[in-house]
Amino acid sequence: MTDTSAPRVTCVLHVNPDGTPAAALAVAVEILRNGGLVAFPTETVYGLGADATNASAAMSIFAAKERPFNDPLIVHVPDFEHVFQVAATVPSLAPALAAHFWPGPLTLILPRAAAIPPVVAAGGSTVGVRVPSHPIAQALLRAADVPIAAPSANRFMHTSPTTAAHVLADLDGRIDCVLDGGPTTVGVESTVLDLTADPPRVLRPGGVTLEELRTLIPDVQGPASTASSRPDAGVDAAVERAPGQMERHYAPRARLVVFDAQEAPALAAIRTEAQAALLRGERVGALLPDEEAAALAALPVAIALLGPSDDLAEISRQLYAALRQLDAQQLDLILTHTFGTQGMGLALWDRLRRAAGGRFRAV
Ligand code: TXA
Ligand code: MG
Repeated sequence: MTDTSAPRVTCVLHVNPDGTPAAALAVAVEILRNGGLVAFPTETVYGLGADATNASAAMSIFAAKERPFNDPLIVHVPDFEHVFQVAATVPSLAPALAAHFWPGPLTLILPRAAAIPPVVAAGGSTVGVRVPSHPIAQALLRAADVPIAAPSANRFMHTSPTTAAHVLADLDGRIDCVLDGGPTTVGVESTVLDLTADPPRVLRPGGVTLEELRTLIPDVQGPASTASSRPDAGVDAAVERAPGQMERHYAPRARLVVFDAQEAPALAAIRTEAQAALLRGERVGALLPDEEAAALAALPVAIALLGPSDDLAEISRQLYAALRQLDAQQLDLILTHTFGTQGMGLALWDRLRRAAGGRFRAV
């Protein structure tokens, strides 16, 4: 199963998160033990899992995703006690963070233990560790009884998957199996917190907010990218700290233009941009909160709704599926805007900025 050059048949196992999916779990565990690849749901996005202690299995993750080896993988364990299997030392802040945020969407960067092969950590001395809360992820970790390395189950640079169908769209025939547990609930990836830095720094904002982290770490540093609020301000320090935090990521096929504003000014900019593109004969789509769709109703623009504008959890849950839904419509241009930088707004801001590449615009 480690021969990544051979075409594979990817099995889809439907799993009810509330039941005990013993038969499906047994299949998944057998694949993992043999060095194969199993995609599974976490509360954030679907992960592409392999035995984190098996270097060749971990390497096949990179091959399936076409991911460069300088982008380290997150290792998943079922609870805090298992962190000691993957981390060489556990900083004093870790137990309180674990008690407060695990299981959940927080990844801690810790010194790497020898049991985790270098390839998992892009050759570095640290390892990202997370305890996911999704019942299927929990059941799989406990049944497999090994730490599971799992990046998001998408091809490199693509939008992260929040359903099994998204996983298959990118990886069918490249992985052994996907456990289909329905749509994920958080919808954007975990917050990556570097505990080897002093003070600790957020490398990637995500499902645990900066405000929540501040309750335990008052001097926690925000992501470096928010200090230079424009992506064209140059390569930011976070890119060097975390090779995977590329400026262009999570990207749709269509040109995505993101206006860094909200409500009326953002809608006016979107309308003007849509009209200009339509005049050029382009096919245009927009990602909008429910209440804002009416503003474009007079134009032939494909709309994907994100949920109520005051519900950032729902917008986060819908973002990637809405982006994929529009991208499947062979559009030339997709327009949207940011949702502030408070709470989950910061993770949305980060993902939209990276998905837009250089097309992130002030209003
Ligand atoms: O929510 C999530 O975090 C999902 C689910 C499946 O757990 N996983 C995920 O993995 O988003 P991935 O590989 O797509 O993104 C993890 C990012 C990488 O881009 C990498 O830069 C960063 O976390 N990372 C992982 N290990 C690191 C390390 N040792 N040092 C710095 N950054 C690291
Ligand atoms: Mg990813």
